[in-house]
Amino acid sequence: MRKKITKAIFPVAGMGTRFLPATKSVPKEIMTLVDRPLVQYAIDEAREAGIKDFIFVTSRGTGALEDYFDLAPQLEQELRKKGKEDLLKILKSTNMDSGQIAYVRQHKPLGLGHAVWCARHLIGNEPFAVMLPDDVIAAEKPCLAQMVEAYAENPGNIVAAMEVPDEKTSSYGMLDIKEDMGRIVSTKGMVEKPKMGEAPSNLAVIGRYILTPTVLKMLNKKRPGAGGEIQLTDAISDAREAGEEVYGYRFEGHRFDCGSKSGFLQATVSFALAREDLRDDLWAYLNDIIYAEKAAQ
Ligand code: G1P
Repeated sequence: MRKKITKAIFPVAGMGTRFLPATKSVPKEIMTLVDRPLVQYAIDEAREAGIKDFIFVTSRGTGALEDYFDLAPQLEQELRKKGKEDLLKILKSTNMDSGQIAYVRQHKPLGLGHAVWCARHLIGNEPFAVMLPDDVIAAEKPCLAQMVEAYAENPGNIVAAMEVPDEKTSSYGMLDIKEDMGRIVSTKGMVEKPKMGEAPSNLAVIGRYILTPTVLKMLNKKRPGAGGEIQLTDAISDAREAGEEVYGYRFEGHRFDCGSKSGFLQATVSFALAREDLRDDLWAYLNDIIYAEKAAQ
């Protein structure tokens, strides 16, 4: 029987320079989307896909992230005393069982592929997921759960995929399509951040992956790729060349690029509007400023 996907790697070692000065003291993944840190969205999505082991690849300065996953007994006691059951419930929903989380250090910023490779001993010889918390995906069925279902039908490597316009292809891993079957696309491989006009298609890799251990073996080569970094995209392509299937999966849902300020703001507005307790106020405010803006034109 095919092995279930129970382990996920969360690369969180980036310096988050696009969000300076905030990221001088706060890891990017702890930055707040409405009232939850970015990483909590990724954790919730992983849990709903059946992930049991959460492996964080960290770097110097990501201590606040480890603290976030600690229990908060004093805070819980205080809330209990005050009868704040609703807040207690929210707090408890973020608790992780002992031993569910592991942290691995990436000592040098050598790229996403290298970050994933750093977790190789915790993965062993089984398929695993990789989630980039910067990519926040709003979907009825969480994106990784959709992919786990697709994996059951299409064994091999599966990456989340989304169409992007020509002028954006140089910012992503881009799929080289073999056969487009609609939601699932078989590929001949993929290219990391191709030069403008050289992308093999408009289908971009988004930060959700289901990968085989072969990809980890390919990462052993430590071959530098785009930007001089060891790229995950290249190792997946190498697995394809070694005869494994690599699929793109057009997920259902809306992806926010929370690695960019504009994407983060859009996600903030969208997630706030989806919340009953915030929707009316925010909506009224947005209407006011749009009206004022139009009147001034
Ligand atoms: C990473 C991957 C790239 C992928 C992107 C999705 O790039 O290397 O293949 O398309 O995430 O968000 P980054 O955005 O970290 O430069």
